[in-house]
Amino acid sequence: MASSGPPFDSNCMTLTRFVLAEQRKVPSATGDLTQLLNSIQTAVKAVSSAVRKAGIANMYGIAGSTNVQGEEVKKLDVMSNELFINMLTSSFTTCLLVSEENETVIEVEIGKQGKYIVCFDPLDGSSNIDCLISIGSIFGIYKKLEPSNVAPTAKDALQAGKNLVAAGYALYGSATMMVLSIGHGVNGFMYDPAIGEFILTDQNMRIPTRGKIYSINEAHEGKWEPAIRDYVHSKKYPATGEPYNARYVGSMVADVHRTLKYGGIFMYPATTASPKGKLRLLYEGIPMAYIVTQAGGAATNGQIDILDIEPSTIHQRSPIFLGSKDDVADILICIRNRAN
Ligand code: AHM
Ligand code: MG
Repeated sequence: MASSGPPFDSNCMTLTRFVLAEQRKVPSATGDLTQLLNSIQTAVKAVSSAVRKAGIANMYGIAGSTNVQGEEVKKLDVMSNELFINMLTSSFTTCLLVSEENETVIEVEIGKQGKYIVCFDPLDGSSNIDCLISIGSIFGIYKKLEPSNVAPTAKDALQAGKNLVAAGYALYGSATMMVLSIGHGVNGFMYDPAIGEFILTDQNMRIPTRGKIYSINEAHEGKWEPAIRDYVHSKKYPATGEPYNARYVGSMVADVHRTLKYGGIFMYPATTASPKGKLRLLYEGIPMAYIVTQAGGAATNGQIDILDIEPSTIHQRSPIFLGSKDDVADILICIRNRAN
């Protein structure tokens, strides 16, 4: 007799299985990207476990911020960075890494080098770490342009987003999810801790053409350019219809994930204090722009598409406006109106 309860799926689509199937569609593929993405998955699982404080009693010896040996417990962002670096450098698929946490590029030792370059933010949303609000990891994967016998340099990482091979993020929210694009749309995989796998739950994610939410740190209004003020004002006091809602987590991954699911716009504009905005191109703006664009949305710095920007330094910042196509078109109209 059939048992009650949810049906048992003995054939679920895991992230690894999905990537393997994609790889099979390219006859010349070597399997390196699958291996690389597996190393990122391992890092994400370990970060997720740490974010959720699994094993905390052991680490703290139940007492305070030092463990029983009297050593200070490693901070989550430091731990996450070490995890990403160790998993990626030991995957035999990468030659160069750029991390938000490291001032200079990390060159993989020669015997372990592969053809990929990975730019990542191991734990984004630093101001939300200690108060348990959603945080995330972001990554973008490029191929090295120079031939393999030439040592990689920082220049190899300075590629426009349109060159990306793949990009994605992990969101440590009320559940852990990985969202990934390898250039053919966007797919979302929810982590199932019971089996330790990411399961395809959000197939072919598409961002609504227009949303009803704007997302910006509104406390900085006094430092915005007039066009940004015009735009937000137009959404609060529309000539017709209902005003938009405001949502701002302050963790880019959470704000972008909501924008992808529900539509609307996420903005981090230039301010008088930070004329280039706050967010970094290589491991924040570009990977997120790639995901949103692959899902049918748009991403701009106010002048050109984020994916067309040729970065000149690894930690370069850029203003960012991304989300539903029509919402991004609206902000561009405000910017152009003020420019004329
Ligand atoms: P971080 O890399 O130090 O964590 O900063 C990036 C974060 C993003 O996740 C978020 O979108 C933004 O900073 C929030 O900045 P603000 O507090 O200025 O609104
Ligand atoms: Mg960051």
